[in-house]
Parts: sequence; structure tokens; C-alpha cells
Amino acid sequence: MPDNDDLTDGERFQTQVAARPHVNQLKGAGALDWGMQSRLARIFDPRTNRTVMLAIDHGYFQGPTTGLERVDLSIVPLLGFADALMTTRGMVRSTIPATSGVPIVLRASGGPSILKDLSDEQIAVAMDDAVRLNATAVAVQVFIGGENETQSVHNMTRLVDQGQQAGIPVLAVTAVGRELSRDARYLRLAVRICAELGAHMVKTYYCAEGFDTVTSGCPVPVVMAGGKKLSGLDALTMAYNAIEAGAAGVDMGRNIFQSDQPVAMIRAVRAVVHDSAKPEHAYEKFMQPTLHDN
Ligand code: R5P
Repeated sequence: MPDNDDLTDGERFQTQVAARPHVNQLKGAGALDWGMQSRLARIFDPRTNRTVMLAIDHGYFQGPTTGLERVDLSIVPLLGFADALMTTRGMVRSTIPATSGVPIVLRASGGPSILKDLSDEQIAVAMDDAVRLNATAVAVQVFIGGENETQSVHNMTRLVDQGQQAGIPVLAVTAVGRELSRDARYLRLAVRICAELGAHMVKTYYCAEGFDTVTSGCPVPVVMAGGKKLSGLDALTMAYNAIEAGAAGVDMGRNIFQSDQPVAMIRAVRAVVHDSAKPEHAYEKFMQPTLHDN
């Protein structure tokens, strides 16, 4: 029986209290549609507006990479420590437990292998399949200065158009060809083009000189790519420096899953990213120096 009296006699309208506006603090996200903001908040922890994304998509162009031979054994135990997992739909469907709850950043471009020109990618996932997989975002490689620059940019802009319709954000991954230098001037150009053309977040490499200008000149969050395996302390130091220079987190692969202590390493990365822990402190707290680490 409906309680009609209660409908008319409510006393908690607090008419003197102004409606509380909520401002999304994530860079560039304030004017996005609710679904898009909600998905970004699953990737970037709203307490810090930063992310520890675990990148394991290497197989889509280079096959079973060291550390990813058995994703079920090496990666699944790490899922509870990752804010998001960057991977392919094949690996999601075959190996990642749907019950893990980890937000998926779905690799959505591909085509060439390491035996060919990597910049010759096309869109490799339909947006409705990304929706079916409950993807939190899609990721696309952009080759600024590469042989197929325009094609890769169009892959991104088409995914942005489709993502806008579905409410799914796009992570642009700036690929730096061997012939290009990873200096701040190049990285500024690459990330800015991606953001101007609609990417909701950009992944790029760290550079020691001027990385703050790369993040500052980009109106959406920049996450640092890990790159080749370094010593644990060097990788943590790079992550720390990137965060200090304005990065909104990391999207790190080999430096975590190729570590002899992957769980300790991802926990140390989390301390650097989310707690601004000094790299030496994070290393000492989580890593065991008795184990091999290089
Ligand atoms: C770029 O091509 C892919 O997203 C890579 O799989 C990813 O950037 C690799 O991560 P990391 O360099 O940290 O191993």
C-alpha cells in the first residue's frame, strides 16, 4: 500500500541550501557525458586522478613476449593491483576472468606484425564488440611522423566518433618510430595532435628534459609508457619523475611483468603513483634486494 502521506509531508527539502555542484577534477573531463566521465573514473582513481594501468597488449604485434607467454599464470595474479588492464579482445575472452572486475582498456588497432611497417595499422575492433566486452576504454596507436601517419590518425578519429556515440573513451598511444627522437619537442607535437583530434587520454614515453611541457601542453591526462625493462629502482624513478612532471599515472608493461618480483613491483609503482612515494622508499618497502633485479 503506497504511503501517500509521506509523499506530501517530507521535511528534508533544505530549501535554504544551494544544490551542490560536482566538478570533475580529471583534466579535460568536466564537459564529457556522464557515461564517459564514469568510465574514466574507473581508470583514473578519483582520489588521486591517477592510474596504474598494466599494459599486456604486446602480443598483438610481436607474439608471446617474455613474461606474457602464459598470461593466465603471470598476469591474472596481478589484476587486483591494477587500476586498469590494457589488453586485446582475444586475451580478454580467452584468459582474463570476467569476475576480476578489472577495467579493460581494449586494444582496438592492429594489422602489421614486427615483420612489417608497424604504422600500417587499421581499426581492429568494432565499437559494438567493445561494448559487448564491457570495455572501459579503447586504445589506438598513432604514428605521428610515421609512414602511415594520416591513416593512423584517421583510425583514432573514427574510434573517437564511435566512442562518443557509445560513451567509451579513447586512449591514443603515441608510437615513436626508431628514426624519430623521443624528445620533448616531438612528444609535445604527438600528444597535442591526439588530444586536439579528440582522444580522451594519451599515452606517451617519458623524456628526461622537458616532460613537464609535454603534460602541460596536453589538455587531457597523459600517462607514461614504460618502455624496455630497467632495474626496479630506475623504473620507479622514471615513474616518479613523470608524475612530478604532471603525468596522470603510468601504463606500464615490461617493467612490471618482466620483473622477478612482479607483485612487489606493481605495488611499488602504485605507491609512487598514488601516494607520491619517493622511488627509493617504494623500492625499499616492497622489493626484496636479495632477489635479482635488473
Ligand atoms: C604499444 O605499442 C603498446 O601499448 C605496448 O604494448 C605498451 O606500450 C608496452 O608497454 P611497456 O613499454 O611498458 O612494456
